[in-house]
Amino acid sequence: MSRSESVFDPDALDDPGPPGVDDDLDGPGSGGAAFAAEEDLENELRPRRFDEFVGQRRVLENLRVAIKAARARGEPPDHVLLSGPPGLGKTSLSRILAHELGTKLHTTTGPALERARDLVGILTQLARGDVLFIDEIHRVPPTVEEYLYSAMEDFRVDLTLDQGAHARVVALKLQRFTLVGATTREGLLSAPFRGRFGHFERLTPYPTEDLVDVLARSARIVGVELDPGGARWLAARSRGTPRIANRFLRRARDLAVVRGTGRIDEDLAVATLERLGVDEHGLEEMDRRILAFLARGGGDPVGLKTLAAGVGEAEDTIEEVFEPHLLREGLLLRTARGRVLTPEGYAALDLEPGQAPDAPGLFD
Ligand SMILES: Nc1ncnc2c1ncn2[C@@H]1O[C@H](COP(=O)(O)OP(=O)(O)OP(=O)(O)O)[C@@H](O)[C@H]1O
Ligand SMILES: [Mg+2]
Repeated sequence: MSRSESVFDPDALDDPGPPGVDDDLDGPGSGGAAFAAEEDLENELRPRRFDEFVGQRRVLENLRVAIKAARARGEPPDHVLLSGPPGLGKTSLSRILAHELGTKLHTTTGPALERARDLVGILTQLARGDVLFIDEIHRVPPTVEEYLYSAMEDFRVDLTLDQGAHARVVALKLQRFTLVGATTREGLLSAPFRGRFGHFERLTPYPTEDLVDVLARSARIVGVELDPGGARWLAARSRGTPRIANRFLRRARDLAVVRGTGRIDEDLAVATLERLGVDEHGLEEMDRRILAFLARGGGDPVGLKTLAAGVGEAEDTIEEVFEPHLLREGLLLRTARGRVLTPEGYAALDLEPGQAPDAPGLFD
């Protein structure tokens, strides 16, 4: 095996072109038309600049400083890892970063980087200072992760070309870029991977006041009148999540149009959430199913697998989407032996602690 520094020759790689990359900022392609329409709306409501991004003040402050310092040094900022539950603004922030840096954003996802050459194809396209956004970065396959290490640290990748006796390693030099990784499962990232990010920012659920601001901004954009009572009602039941708040707003706007009022007040907000099956705690159908399943166990801890099978939802989805809110609200606890319902959890189902949902007398 010989080792040589060489200029990148795309033909040598026989690379069909990087899959999963798209520069038009729209994220991975989507399926059905209805889904595409929702996605368009989400893009329409996406904050584009720091000053449009509501809340998460500490995170914004850190990123602003990082950008300023990088400018002063004349170098692209260190790599950034954004973690947090779905819908809190990780993708939005990555776009804002590229925008504020005035550089190009390249977008891909962990699962799209199936082979090393998928990654190399993208890396070699990066110009100095560009932002490479890898969504779901915890799902980058381990073999590809190794290549990212040297790319992140030394801005080079070592590539093996040919096989057997002709195999040789070629070191490709890369332009200095900034990797922005987003993950809903920071715990799944290996320590060496995590250690290669200079900035590690954790997004946390938004307080109701911030969600009121998110809703006010979105209402202006979609052109619907939202009064303070309506805003508060929707915000308080959005599980600390701007994406959910925006979804509620769109449904409320639909109802306002149908009713011919064109205005979202508290009555209309209440009616909207009732139609969506969202209760006063912000719980939806699946949340209640999860709680009810735990209640049925008579207080014994329930394992994730059993719970997933019992409610008909994927384990991942339960852990990432549903549980965080239930934990935060103190409705369930995770113990070493499994999930258990808290007295508050029983109360959310209108049950006494220890009472099973189908207990006699419940619906008297
Ligand atoms: N801080 C914010 N201010 C205003 N709107 C926001 C904010 N954060 C998120 N949003 C809204 O919520 C939507 C979802 O945000 P985004 O796609 O950035 O979340 P995410 O963290 O990437 O979610 P996922 O983990 O599911 O990819 C955005 O389209 C935007 O409308
Ligand atoms: Mg995202």
